[in-house]
Amino acid sequence: MNIKQIDFKKSQRKKLKEIKKFNSEMYKKYNRDKKRKNVPESEYLVNMKDNNNIVEFDNLKSYFFTDVGTVKAVDGVSFSIPKGTTVGIVGESGCGKSVTSLSIMRLLQGPQGQIVDGEIRFNNKNTNKAIDVTKISLSEMQKLRGNEISMIFQEPMTSLNPVFTIKDQLAESIALHNKDMKKEDVEKRVIELLNLVGIANAEGIADRYPHELSGGMKQRIVIAMALCCNPQVIIADEPTTALDVTIQAQILDLLREIKDKINASIMLITHDLGVVASMCDYVVVMYAGRVIEQGTVHEIFKETKHPYTIGLIKSLPILNTSSDKLYSIPGNVPNPINMPNHCYFKNRCDQCYDECFGEYPPNIELTETHKVNCYLYKKVD
Ligand SMILES: Nc1ncnc2c1ncn2[C@@H]1O[C@H](COP(=O)(O)OP(=O)(O)OP(=O)(O)O)[C@@H](O)[C@H]1O
Ligand code: SF4
Ligand SMILES: [Mg+2]
Repeated sequence: MNIKQIDFKKSQRKKLKEIKKFNSEMYKKYNRDKKRKNVPESEYLVNMKDNNNIVEFDNLKSYFFTDVGTVKAVDGVSFSIPKGTTVGIVGESGCGKSVTSLSIMRLLQGPQGQIVDGEIRFNNKNTNKAIDVTKISLSEMQKLRGNEISMIFQEPMTSLNPVFTIKDQLAESIALHNKDMKKEDVEKRVIELLNLVGIANAEGIADRYPHELSGGMKQRIVIAMALCCNPQVIIADEPTTALDVTIQAQILDLLREIKDKINASIMLITHDLGVVASMCDYVVVMYAGRVIEQGTVHEIFKETKHPYTIGLIKSLPILNTSSDKLYSIPGNVPNPINMPNHCYFKNRCDQCYDECFGEYPPNIELTETHKVNCYLYKKVD
């Protein structure tokens, strides 16, 4: 080994030591807040910006303090979910969609994953109080999780326990959230839920184990589990990715139907722009941990502004046209560690011009609902 290599190794070791020291300080800082048992109401009661919203993400920052540096997985995300609507979150793999949804559930993988800044305001219809979910104690959060905000995960097999029957698993989640419910009522509710999610022969299926069911049926059971307490917000993270197209359509119809039946709002995370177009009222486009464009479905699909969103829509296959190759956005998402303070899409953008070499582009409001972060739309005074 020559001197240069020895010096390099030494500097790497020093850097690693520094990172570890910084991370351990961060873990201590955020875990101290998490461990607080009695957080006074004054610390988490908030006012909604708009009372018609059920959830408002406001400058949310969720970071992972890893051995190679701080991953700013979600870095200043702001958007709202209006009551009774479906909001779609789209963006390339790794852009922070799941981390955003795990943040509202307070399920980031600790101690590395922490919410470091911002607010997630939840307008609880049952208590008529708006709270900041990031500030409440973990025991308060447990009351909210499943009861008021519930999550449907992507892969049903990982959400269901293979050694318990469907009835046992559903009954356990119902009993957990309704401690005073009698056993017969819990069983009745299991059958009610299975009927709600369109399972034929609910009594027979209730006694089966997950491996005895098809993929579509398993996903219906996972949905039933998420609905057991009539939540006000349903978060669906790629709920149909593991299913074939016909079952996917059935599950999406089911979600739409249930949302209206229980008067819930949905945050739908998906890669599939077709699903977004057919299911959502609003769309949030994320790129490298930030929201780069948001608006109504019409605004995003018909009045697309951000070059990244334009690229995403251009990469959709078009029916009745033949082409040798589908369009794909050139280049890759930048490394989420040590992101520079300029437009993250700069190196892939075919409309990049002088101004784009400046600071991160400001948030520009094109209409009340349509917002974009791109210098192309900056008004000239
Ligand atoms: N436990 C973790 N430790 C370190 N980094 C993580 C962890 N979980 C997520 N990340 C990082 O956070 C960033 C956002 O990840 P996230 O899972 O939210 O992406 P996503 O948009 O949901 O992607 P996909 O479409 O593939 O599901 C990624 O850069 C990822 O590497
Ligand atoms: S700010 Fe500039 S580089 Fe970034 S997306 Fe807009 S035009 Fe492209
Ligand atoms: Mg994800």
